[in-house]
Amino acid sequence: MPRPRTVPNKINTLLVGGGGREHALAWRLARSPRMGRLWVSHPDNPGLASLGAAVDVPIDAKAPFRIQRFCDTHDIGLVVIGPEGPLAAGLADALRTPARAVFGPDRAGARLEADKAWAKSLMRAAAIPTAEGRAFTDPAAARAYVESRPDPVVIKAAGLAKGKGVAVPDTPAEAIEAIDRIMVQRVFGDAGDTVVIEERLSGPEVSVLALVDGRTIYVLEPCQDHKRLLEGGAGPNTGGMGAYCPAPILDRDTMDRVERDILVPVVDALRRDGVDYRGVLYAGLMLTHGGPKVLEFNVRFGDPECQPLMARFKGDLAETLWRAASGSLDGASIDWDRRTACCVVLASRGYPDAPETGHEITGIEEAEAMGDVIVFHAGTKRDKDGRLVTAGGRVLSVTALAGTLAEARELANGACELIRFEGKHWRRDIGAHALPAPSRA
Ligand code: AMP
Ligand code: GLY
Repeated sequence: MPRPRTVPNKINTLLVGGGGREHALAWRLARSPRMGRLWVSHPDNPGLASLGAAVDVPIDAKAPFRIQRFCDTHDIGLVVIGPEGPLAAGLADALRTPARAVFGPDRAGARLEADKAWAKSLMRAAAIPTAEGRAFTDPAAARAYVESRPDPVVIKAAGLAKGKGVAVPDTPAEAIEAIDRIMVQRVFGDAGDTVVIEERLSGPEVSVLALVDGRTIYVLEPCQDHKRLLEGGAGPNTGGMGAYCPAPILDRDTMDRVERDILVPVVDALRRDGVDYRGVLYAGLMLTHGGPKVLEFNVRFGDPECQPLMARFKGDLAETLWRAASGSLDGASIDWDRRTACCVVLASRGYPDAPETGHEITGIEEAEAMGDVIVFHAGTKRDKDGRLVTAGGRVLSVTALAGTLAEARELANGACELIRFEGKHWRRDIGAHALPAPSRA
């Protein structure tokens, strides 16, 4: 498809999505010299409302006419799609034109996240290191498979389940319960029509994200997320309770290996399947004794990994995302703040199952006044009296920058103390167990 070759001087941008990840993207976009006017799909998020103008038409991949016309009328040169839902529904396909770059893969590429069975077969075909696994559409066959296996397994709903579709059972009975929940009770609806059952791996987890322009990839600095609700890695899985960047456990050699053995082969395999992938490719990895192995791919920035990444990103983000979306990433100039960023999520009481909402939030200004602290809004809103109140499970992403991880942690935790709302909950151990890169003799 022909595209404008030179980067526009000013790029009017539409940002789709309403969480902490999108606030971080908007915050960095707003600092881009090439940023034109920023439009946001979710002005209910006060962080986004402070940075962009509200889009006043529905954004629906199935009925895209009004948003297409909105983009034409407002001369939108770049659409940045944050969450996986609209990508899997085909929003990128609907909005991409020769004159309008869309950062985020088409529906065909989004299958990498939206269909874990397909992703598994693509990995197998491309010899990408991952847990050995099989897909099932029949619960009886899935149960029989679990009963026949001597080793522990992991059960995954193949479709999109908001990060909750994975069970890591300790016994075969629990595994069978998970199969029943997903396939028979259908707690994730159609997302559980197929399950993937795979071998259980062990080792530290890391997230490696790369920008992809269809062909060229640019690997971003490695991050480590903390998925469990409670300190020490206890409690249920969540969308992510905090992340820091860079993650020292991923040394240069391992990063090179991830790029060579995982990221490049995926993009090549997608191209062989006719998929021109433009956006973020996120590999959730386990560092096993046998080397890094893929747990999952996501087709978007991680939330909260995006927040420390954006805190450290140097360069023109609007230009960089435009280049990725336009097939000219090789001309991008990206640099990183040398400091470490630590992002701590403040969550509501009851998260992840039934978060309380509607509690007033205070103290954000005091937290930011500490310096090198940025508070991104995730689940917040203004109530009818204009007060800032909680409106979701993950409320704020408190992100601090400092010379060392220990200092960044201390600063972020100090900022978290200053912010107040009823039922505030956070993990004080984000980054506390960061392992150094293994030293080589
Ligand atoms: P996913 O959404 O696929 O990343 O899975 C959510 C969490 O489940 C991961 O962050 C891991 O902690 C765990 N997990 C997923 N797959 C495996 C596996 N094959 N072995 C061990 N743990 C896993
Ligand atoms: N933080 C993990 C995710 O965004 O999937």
